[in-house]
Amino acid sequence: MKYICILVLLFQQVKTDDLRYDSCAYYMVSKGLGLPEFSERRVLNDVTVYHHDSSLDSKMPCPDWINTTAGKEHWKIIYHWTDYNKYVGTLGLQSATEQFNQTGSLTDGNIYQAFGCCSLYPNGTYRTLLAHAFNGKDFASFDFQTKTFVAAVPQAVLYKTLREKDPANMEEIATLYKKTCLERLQILKEAPRVNIKKVPEVRIIEKKKKKAGSVTVTCHVTGFYPREVQVFWLVSDLQPVDEEVTEILPNGDGTYQTRKSVIVPEEDVGKHTYSCVVLHISVPNNITTVWGEEKRSKIGVFVVLACVFLLIIVFVFWKCCRSAGKQIKMNLDTEQL
Ligand SMILES: *[C@@H]1O[C@H](CO)[C@@H](O)[C@H](O)[C@H]1NC(C)=O
Ligand SMILES: *[C@@H]1O[C@H](CO)[C@@H](O)[C@H](O)[C@H]1NC(C)=O
Ligand SMILES: *[C@@H]1O[C@H](CO)[C@@H](O)[C@H](O)[C@H]1NC(C)=O
Ligand SMILES: *[C@@H]1O[C@H](CO)[C@@H](O)[C@H](O)[C@H]1NC(C)=O
Repeated sequence: MKYICILVLLFQQVKTDDLRYDSCAYYMVSKGLGLPEFSERRVLNDVTVYHHDSSLDSKMPCPDWINTTAGKEHWKIIYHWTDYNKYVGTLGLQSATEQFNQTGSLTDGNIYQAFGCCSLYPNGTYRTLLAHAFNGKDFASFDFQTKTFVAAVPQAVLYKTLREKDPANMEEIATLYKKTCLERLQILKEAPRVNIKKVPEVRIIEKKKKKAGSVTVTCHVTGFYPREVQVFWLVSDLQPVDEEVTEILPNGDGTYQTRKSVIVPEEDVGKHTYSCVVLHISVPNNITTVWGEEKRSKIGVFVVLACVFLLIIVFVFWKCCRSAGKQIKMNLDTEQL
């Protein structure tokens, strides 16, 4: 009964409207790295919806699927912030380069990056985040409570001071994340690409531990979208296995991956069946992969393929010899004439 309840709970967790949504903007300003001087990318759940860089003459036009007045208004706000981000990013790069005394080293490249996200969780929790980095290290972040910048390193104090000279802008940033970002998220989640579901690929990987006398069996799940997924192991189709919480990581192509492992004592190998069950919105029921069986069936397929191959060779060889034999016979016949 308890187990059924767990399953019902799991199924409830993968309904469409129970997804977590992240609306994020990434921008960077760089010098001496062969990258565009400025670039910006906006993503919803790791799917790119807007891109701009300084090598382009114009900004991305408002896509067709945004056909409401409110939506078009938001697209204009994006344009405005692209210009603004280029300005503050350049300021960040200049001030950080100076503060780290790196103005002299012309051969070295410097990069200033910022990312800001607002996230809406299925339970209604809403979170915002804005952080800056210089040459890959934390530089500054924005505190939404106090509406001020927090310097992560002493070299960022100048940047903080420069930005806070404009209190109206600090208010604007707070409003942008607390209100505008949420509204935009509701618009962007209608993007066609955001709603294309991708089915997970499931692979079982086993690793023998020599010392401990156990086998670690990992269920590797990849290539799925959206992010929400449930992966769990069942022993002999009945008991759930105690398992660690694992992260869901982006693949970089708009899909995600995750993994879940079970440690099977060597004496238990072959005694029980272990099933990795994957629940994802892209499949109506579940994807169940049984450890052990998969391997056996693969060997089976291999044996059948090998036999077929062998038969073909034997057949070809036999045909070939027969026709060659005929040929020789014919040649002999002609010579005799
Ligand atoms: C807006 O686009 C959606 C989806 O593409 C469509 O269903 C709807 O009819 C469109 N509305 C208008 C006013 O064009
Ligand atoms: C940069 O140079 C100044 C003046 O020479 C010095 O006071 C400061 O400590 C240097 N900063 C770093 C990060 O090296
Ligand atoms: C909502 O979910 C988030 C992420 O799972 C969690 O951190 C937060 O505490 C939850 N909030 C409530 C009120 O349950
Ligand atoms: C997986 O789906 C099948 C139907 O395709 C169902 O019989 C089975 O009980 C499901 N298993 C789990 C663990 O949800």
